[in-house]
Amino acid sequence: MGSAHERILVLDFGSQYTQLIARRIREAHVYSEILPYNVPLARILERRPAGLIFSGGPASVYDRKAPSIPAPLLEAGIPILGICYGMQLVTQVLGGKVARAAHREYGPATLLVDDVTDLFKGLEGERARPTVWMSHGDRIEEMPPGFRSIARTSNTPVAAMKATSPGRRIYCLQFHPEVAHTESGVTILKNFVHNICGLKPDWTMRSFMTDAIAAIRDQVRAGQVFCALSGGVDSSVAAVLAHRAVGDRLTCLFVDHGLLREGEPQVVRETFAKHFKIKLKFINASARFVKALDGVSNPERKRKIIGRLFIKEFEAFARKAGKADWLVQGTLYPDVIESVSFKGPSATIKTHHNVGGLPARMRFKLIEPLRELFKDEVRELGKELGLPDEVVWRQPFPGPGLAIRILGPVTKERLATVRAADAIVEQEIRKAGYYQKVWQAFAVLLPVRTVGVMGDERTYDNVVAVRAVTSVDGMTADWARLPSEVLASISTRIINEVKGVNRVVFDISSKPPSTIEWE
Ligand code: XMP
Repeated sequence: MGSAHERILVLDFGSQYTQLIARRIREAHVYSEILPYNVPLARILERRPAGLIFSGGPASVYDRKAPSIPAPLLEAGIPILGICYGMQLVTQVLGGKVARAAHREYGPATLLVDDVTDLFKGLEGERARPTVWMSHGDRIEEMPPGFRSIARTSNTPVAAMKATSPGRRIYCLQFHPEVAHTESGVTILKNFVHNICGLKPDWTMRSFMTDAIAAIRDQVRAGQVFCALSGGVDSSVAAVLAHRAVGDRLTCLFVDHGLLREGEPQVVRETFAKHFKIKLKFINASARFVKALDGVSNPERKRKIIGRLFIKEFEAFARKAGKADWLVQGTLYPDVIESVSFKGPSATIKTHHNVGGLPARMRFKLIEPLRELFKDEVRELGKELGLPDEVVWRQPFPGPGLAIRILGPVTKERLATVRAADAIVEQEIRKAGYYQKVWQAFAVLLPVRTVGVMGDERTYDNVVAVRAVTSVDGMTADWARLPSEVLASISTRIINEVKGVNRVVFDISSKPPSTIEWE
């Protein structure tokens, strides 16, 4: 787990690439975390980082409210890598001069490396002139005292610089080593974390797993542990991890609210009871949920009803099970991350996402073993724990389930329609090899009917919208450019096989301004 490992802290100044920096460092098997640039100095130091990276950002250091850092941070003896805005900030704080570049530089540039002793170690011979990715309007006019240039481009005399006195390990790059377009970017970042910060590449999923199990064991010395399973990858991985730590003291609860995807309850049941021998209480509550939702159209009301009923089921279960002290939750890093660029306006939109939230009076102590991981890392951990692909690669699914994919009133019939259409979308997406390439692909049942003709009959039937998006975290998304043949087979099959549907449309909106789900 991160706490047992030395870490790199990435201070976020609002760059769209901040997350990518943290990921690249983790890919180099070093644990890294993102913090907003303005966390108090004491909080940074208490985390005892082995290195700091300052991200890029949209501001200019001369803007009136430009984000800055306390000068003592630069003199704390911690190795620092400033990227783009991070470089300009270091320059300004240490007494150099930043100015508007005559030409704003965006996109590729050829780097001429002048010093291959540390940060650019290995960038020799054929690798001496890498293409790097620039994205800046300001440039370094005058380096701060005690710095020298270690690389240039034809437009930028100081494309990289370092502090000259030995022991003062401050490095800066005008370009972005974290983006895939920068050649040897990974080498540069590895040089920084492995050689300059002196961190061993020993942060792997296996080491994370071992540490996380030990940490839960340590935390939960006695008492009963509960986990609400949703069937998704996050809660499943969290449950299996907790089970490894506390064994039979863990009981999982799976509430089938009748709003799940086709086959989902069975997969969860089989996986947990058969393969993992985890105590699983399976509650089929579909009739209660569907009845409560009958005729309800308002999206927020649907969510509230589902959240409330879920809590009721959980309370009834907890009452029967006796005293439970701990609750395992599959909270991920994106849910806890405090970063300037990561949150943003969508932060508040997402607050309703957790199914209801359990009442405060239940007073569980929380175990959140995944709170340091990104989604794909959770999948890797799931594989490490032996979870089947079925679960590990399940696409995300909202807590309120199909209820928020039926626009207008939820009824049993409409549930059956959207579930059947959704299963076809999934099958065709899998068949075409797109299941793991898209973040989510699903069907939405619209509250409109349109005219069609089937055989010689006029029909007046439902419309299904197909939504397929690419995304890294669900916070932003783009509609997936699926091949037209795939769309064609989805459409043909839905119209032919799902009763009551005579038209299929494809959603071509990105998030923002749309959201992934329609409600
Ligand atoms: P939106 O629709 O806000 O969705 O773009 C972003 C991601 O979150 C999922 N989602 C939910 N997950 N409870 C959940 O657990 C919810 O109420 C909920 N609503 C949306 C959505 O599927 C997507 O992956």
